[in-house]
Amino acid sequence: MIPEAFPLDTFRKYAGLALPRHVSYPMPTAWSDREGADFVGQLARRAGDPDAPGISLYLHLPFCETLCKFCACNKVILKKEAKGAADKRNAYLEALLAEIDRVAELPGMNRPVRQIHWGGGSPTYLDTSEIAEIQGRIASRFSIAPDAEIAMEIDPRHTTEDVLATLARLGFTRVSMGIQDFDSAVQQHVHRIQPYEMVRDVVAGARRHGFRWVNFDLIYGMPYQTSETVADMVRKTIEIRPDRIAFYHYAQIPEKIATQRGMDYTHLPGSEEKLSMFLEAIGTFEAAGYDFIGLDHFALPEEPLARSFRDGTIQRNFQGMTTHGGLDLIGLGVSSITHLIGVGFWQKVKEIEAYEEGISRGELPYDRGIHFSEDDLIRQAVISDLYCFTRFDPEDIGRRFGILGREYFARELADLAELEADGLVEFRPDGVVEVTAPLGRVLLRNIAAVFDAYLDPGAYKLGDRYYYSVSA
Ligand SMILES: C[S@@+](CC[C@H](N)C(=O)[O-])C[C@H]1O[C@@H](n2cnc3c(N)ncnc32)[C@H](O)[C@@H]1O
Ligand code: SF4
Repeated sequence: MIPEAFPLDTFRKYAGLALPRHVSYPMPTAWSDREGADFVGQLARRAGDPDAPGISLYLHLPFCETLCKFCACNKVILKKEAKGAADKRNAYLEALLAEIDRVAELPGMNRPVRQIHWGGGSPTYLDTSEIAEIQGRIASRFSIAPDAEIAMEIDPRHTTEDVLATLARLGFTRVSMGIQDFDSAVQQHVHRIQPYEMVRDVVAGARRHGFRWVNFDLIYGMPYQTSETVADMVRKTIEIRPDRIAFYHYAQIPEKIATQRGMDYTHLPGSEEKLSMFLEAIGTFEAAGYDFIGLDHFALPEEPLARSFRDGTIQRNFQGMTTHGGLDLIGLGVSSITHLIGVGFWQKVKEIEAYEEGISRGELPYDRGIHFSEDDLIRQAVISDLYCFTRFDPEDIGRRFGILGREYFARELADLAELEADGLVEFRPDGVVEVTAPLGRVLLRNIAAVFDAYLDPGAYKLGDRYYYSVSA
């Protein structure tokens, strides 16, 4: 239910615009193929630098056995029994292992690895022997810090005891599960059948195998979801009590993602129903002891994300929110993204064949990226602060970057004054701009859009372009 005092008219003015959720700034729409080439040269500048950040590795495993119709991730549907499937999978794994070897040898990579994340696609598409081979190769080529966080996105439908035992033995500390929804009508529509009991049992198995941290991904706003079904999904989630929850708004981009075209768009919930789903979820999760963090995350107070939120070290990144934002992110595998802190983003080719060909030619097949300008870095910090701490402090940004914050952002402060008049933000007497709750929090993307120099002026109230808003 939407509380009576909620300013629905203002909400209607700003909601429903196709605005980015800024898992990166600048957004991929601003990257270019001219700047994809020189990752190795830029990385080499880290060599011998005692202040260089540690490393976070991201591995992309693109294969999935079946298609979930909502999916906006970069995946390849490959039935295991299909003709040629084994060859395709072997060719990819060979290329990935070759890339691991090659990247580990690069100047600038001799730094501790403090985080490893396996994403996809579905890493649990692989056999346990394949998982062990890849993780073993990483362990033998890189120096993994003893307290590194090692996480995998696991699919409950394919996560057996054997998989959990293997991950535990290999030193994985966190599992992240794609849940999406527990409702059977929704599950049937999106082609992802995984009953509540299955998820509950996989989580119990993960706990038995010693996984300290369990994440859930949930989605609201898909066809056939209603306020009641979403409230039920939230209640069931709380019963299982994962440590962290990403509560994603359904990103609907059928223009870009052909596999989403099979969704039944006649049964989509409207903006106000989605608002109701979201506000109710915030209330129920908070009442159950979860902290609401940023745009769409919840975590139990002892969970590292909640702690990093309290101690001010949390950052925005491709996974949404991270406790490891200060690390250089090195992407391995097709379509993976690399982020050298303060330097730039690079993304590898998105097609598996092109990736494998590039690797077989001895290259790292990055095909686009961006080198940050000083202005990009300043705005990156502002947007990260907005998503993580729901405030903008011009003085603090000024100190961090040696600029006069209020002058530098004169145009943005004028736009924010309009948002203040509408109740999305408040100007405090000390000059800090605070995002209001609940209105500003649910319209956080509009507020961040004010600072995105690549959007059209006024996009925060007029945005009409589509953005690829799910992580790589
Ligand atoms: C990169 S995907 C891989 C997850 C894993 N393969 C699984 O399904 O268990 C990570 C998450 O992105 C989210 N996601 C995928 N498509 C989405 C969409 N169209 N809108 C919002 N979230 C989406 C899902 O919650 C999914 O669990
Ligand atoms: S949601 Fe996960 S399992 Fe489903 S198609 Fe996307 S990547 Fe594959």
